[in-house]
Amino acid sequence: MTLKLGVLLSGSGSNLQAIMDRIEQGALQAEIALVLSDNEQAYGLRRVKTGNIPARAILAQNYQSRLEHDLAMVQALRKSQVDVVVLAGYMRLVSKDFVQAFPQGVLNVHPGLLPAFKGLQAQKKAAEYGVKLAGASVHFVDEHLDHGPLIIQACLPVHQGEDSQSLAQRILRLEHRIYPQAVQWLVENRLAQEGGHVYLQDVSKQQADIQDLGPCLINPSLEEGF
Ligand code: GRF
Repeated sequence: MTLKLGVLLSGSGSNLQAIMDRIEQGALQAEIALVLSDNEQAYGLRRVKTGNIPARAILAQNYQSRLEHDLAMVQALRKSQVDVVVLAGYMRLVSKDFVQAFPQGVLNVHPGLLPAFKGLQAQKKAAEYGVKLAGASVHFVDEHLDHGPLIIQACLPVHQGEDSQSLAQRILRLEHRIYPQAVQWLVENRLAQEGGHVYLQDVSKQQADIQDLGPCLINPSLEEGF
């Protein structure tokens, strides 16, 4: 099975790159059908220019409301027959109507261990708070900020005196590992949801992208061995 992905981004698009790389390596059975941005300067849009993935900006200022902008995005994504939407550094909140338009899922990656440090600059907030563990989360999206059932989290120990820039870079590398993996689980139809929790089916299957993350890999179904 192959899923058609729509990727929404506002900035550099390194998570888009990680997903494209895994697809190219054959580790992710998906196809990127469309990349959209709310920012025409986003470097992420340029990353796909050389390939044949359609990419364009749909600017919020051209619409009267968040909903109208969201509906324009939905229309474009549907036209490209997108099954699943992947938010990859998309800096706007999506509406309930947007989420409901994609029943197979809208996913997001956040550079923090949710529900801690939602919103912008999560890594800075974590470093300033003095947390000893930081990390990244991939979750299904609902209409609330950085909220929805968690699919996978990965963490790392924060070094003594580490600044937020260094922490952000290390967290980003984790994101690049766990985001394509979460999408592949969705492709394999292995994510069951119950009571707001996500359960990974067929846990014993080898996970090439994440197998060395050890005890810092967190999914409700992966607790054994901790
Ligand atoms: C990532 O840290 C992601 O978690 C957050 O925005 C950043 C996007 O980075 N939502 P990139 O555009 O994928 O490089």
